[in-house]
Amino acid sequence: MLNRTALEALTRRPLPFLRSAWPWRCAAYLVASAVPGAAVGLVAAAVLLLPKPVGVPAGVALLAAIVLPLARFERLRLRLVDAVPLPPVPRPWRRELGLAVMTLLALWWIDLVMVAFMVAGPVLLVLTPAVQPTVSTQAGIAASVAGVLLLPVAAYTVTAWGGGRGAMARAVLAPQGSELSEVLRSRARLVDAFETERRRIERDLHDGAQQRLVALSMTLGMARLDLPEGSEVARLIGLAHGEAKQALEELRELIRGVHAPILTDRGLVAAVRDVAGRSPVPVDVDLDVPSRLPAPVEVTAYYVISEALANVAKHSGAARASVTGRVERGTLVVEVRDDGAGGADPARGTGLTGLADRLSVVEGRLSLSSPAGGPTLLRVEIPCAW
Ligand SMILES: Nc1ncnc2c1ncn2[C@@H]1O[C@H](COP(=O)(O)OP(=O)(O)OP(=O)(O)O)[C@@H](O)[C@H]1O
Ligand SMILES: [Mg+2]
Repeated sequence: MLNRTALEALTRRPLPFLRSAWPWRCAAYLVASAVPGAAVGLVAAAVLLLPKPVGVPAGVALLAAIVLPLARFERLRLRLVDAVPLPPVPRPWRRELGLAVMTLLALWWIDLVMVAFMVAGPVLLVLTPAVQPTVSTQAGIAASVAGVLLLPVAAYTVTAWGGGRGAMARAVLAPQGSELSEVLRSRARLVDAFETERRRIERDLHDGAQQRLVALSMTLGMARLDLPEGSEVARLIGLAHGEAKQALEELRELIRGVHAPILTDRGLVAAVRDVAGRSPVPVDVDLDVPSRLPAPVEVTAYYVISEALANVAKHSGAARASVTGRVERGTLVVEVRDDGAGGADPARGTGLTGLADRLSVVEGRLSLSSPAGGPTLLRVEIPCAW
């Protein structure tokens, strides 16, 4: 997975992280604080070294001249630790100016002190035998080994500090509040519109096509009764009757997939028991959740469980499966397990990736563990605050 910020990169496994460019990018980001540091030095030198009457005005003029280029510089160097483009904001120069002032006043020297402590410590330890000839050979080697062991730790702390500083710079340059809530609101609208449309399709299929098929099936059944037993026509009508019943069953299944009325009428627990009851693989259901949850949460959880159980039946070869669910600190956590062959891979179908898309709309998370040989565990977390 490609990381777009230093803080994201910290969540990678240790070796890929240490081999990545992120620790170096963060170190470069922090060392670049020498530029605002030099600017402060220049202003201080002007004030202190020039003759009294001109010193202070020259210092102020210099500060005014450097603050805007410095603000641009801050925005540019942010790319080292955060590759996500900054969203446009009204009057960006005011925010840039704010960040430049913060950097000039304090941040530059905090960055430099941090990077010096975090990197210089291990490097000096590594170089002990070279820079301190007075220490014994064993002590020198021990110090070098300790220094080498501390280098990865330094990579983590430099990245954490650089990433944190980047997040702070981003927060000053582009506070996300209004933009984000608007996006979420429109997402919620989308979910609602989608659900309404589903229900409409379900009603249309239920009241239209399904009723016609029921009538057709009954008519064929009656026609069969009136025909002489064993005749060719009776055989053909019998076949047609069987086909009509099968088509009706398939249509019912399709309607349940589009929208499950039992979910709207009786809630998640009843709907999941219904799906589990129809699964060819025996499923233990243990749902310890309130009788009703917010509609988007119920619908998402229901479709996740339906797809997971369909996958168990289609791919796993499992003898048993289970669905467990509970609400933990305001988040619905559902786990679907099976004791089958494992090896589930979202890249091989559209079902699992579709679930991930569905979950992202309600800010949920999907995790999958399915080693070859099994077992498979699918875990979903959906925040209930809707
Ligand atoms: N419980 C499971 N046990 C073993 N393998 C699984 C399991 N679930 C999924 N898989 C494997 O992962 C692949 C991807 O699953 P996914 O649900 O994304 O697609 P699909 O079921 O093949 O097709 P679709 O869901 O789009 O009809 C499957 O093709 C299957 O090989
Ligand atoms: Mg599937």
